[in-house]
Amino acid sequence: MNTVTVDLGARSYPIHIKPGILNQIAPIIQGFSDSREVALITDETVSKLYGQSVLDHLSAAGYTTFLFTVPAGEDSKSYQYLEKLHTKMLKAGLKRDSLVIALGGGVVGDLAGFVAATYLRGIGFIQIPTTLLAQVDSSVGGKTGINHILGKNLIGAFHQPLGVLIDPDALKTLSVRDMWGGLGEVLKYGLIRDVEFFETIEQNLESLFSLSDMDQVSSMLAMCCQIKADVVSADEKEGGLRRILNFGHTLCHALEAVTGYDYFRHGEAVVYGLDWAAWVSMRFDLLDSNQYERIHKLIGRFELPPLPENLEADQLQAKMALDKKQTAAGLNLVLLDAIGSTVIQTVQDATDEIKGWLNELRK
Ligand SMILES: NC(=O)c1ccc[n+]([C@@H]2O[C@H](COP(=O)([O-])OP(=O)(O)OC[C@H]3O[C@@H](n4cnc5c(N)ncnc54)[C@H](O)[C@@H]3O)[C@@H](O)[C@H]2O)c1
Repeated sequence: MNTVTVDLGARSYPIHIKPGILNQIAPIIQGFSDSREVALITDETVSKLYGQSVLDHLSAAGYTTFLFTVPAGEDSKSYQYLEKLHTKMLKAGLKRDSLVIALGGGVVGDLAGFVAATYLRGIGFIQIPTTLLAQVDSSVGGKTGINHILGKNLIGAFHQPLGVLIDPDALKTLSVRDMWGGLGEVLKYGLIRDVEFFETIEQNLESLFSLSDMDQVSSMLAMCCQIKADVVSADEKEGGLRRILNFGHTLCHALEAVTGYDYFRHGEAVVYGLDWAAWVSMRFDLLDSNQYERIHKLIGRFELPPLPENLEADQLQAKMALDKKQTAAGLNLVLLDAIGSTVIQTVQDATDEIKGWLNELRK
């Protein structure tokens, strides 16, 4: 078993990574909490695949379990489902010392985490992420929340889990698009923090995608969690260093917004965002052109939906101006001065940089 620690003093927690851990969780969660009552929150797809076996395992270990299922998809990260879950938990009589387990992708993790953050002023929760994106990113770091009609992820709380349990075997049922999208977030870690990890991805992208070597997959997951844990441990609430995790996400969020949130998977839009941020880094003379070409070539091996043909730089810039990372001084862009090393630059307007990049891609 690979174990990574998120070091937050009294709220520190482990991330355990082990194939098959999904049906071995009872003794581990006993170490996190004395609670014997568990609300297992999941979505309909994950429930059918893994819900029953996790419930059976917990019941056999003496837990009183309640299964709460929401529809799969981003629409469940809403006030409506937050309230429904609170109501079901109140009716079930769950108490301050009950536990929430989030079993699923980033949608379930964010929603169930926020349910736990707000139920009876906050109860303990455990993340069991089942998508690649959730295993390397959203389950670690304590950001929980729901969407508001005026924007994504605008309502939420920092609420750290008691632990994160990652079963790489769960990736075997994941869709091709969710695998490639998740690998986009994996690539982000190499780009921002570790050139050797970037090289590992460069050498093994296709075998990581096909899950042909589970030891290699477990090491990749541990590497990503270690990088995220280090960053979160140093800057829990995004006052400084944690901003580097937004690398690639400025254009990504704009792309998601102009395409109505239903064209790209989040991670797919991240991959385009990584390419744009690396291209801007080259254009600003921060990143050597050979390094950009290397990144661009690797990104070319990802299977992605094409950029919509009618995409306009002005439209994307308008969405970027609404970005949460926009400050009075301008838009803070996370850029690279080398593979594995970031710098932050503030720009007033990125329309030319978007136009130039789109023109390059369309050549
Ligand atoms: N909290 C954070 O720090 C953070 C970071 C990044 C992203 N996010 C959020 O994460 C969400 C996206 O997460 P996601 O990409 O995991 O999407 P998701 O949770 O919607 O999962 C994608 C799809 O995969 C299915 N699925 C999940 N596990 C599966 C498995 N093992 N086998 C087969 N199907 C499976 C789900 O039912 C869903 O249909 C967004 O809401 C985003 O805002 C949060």
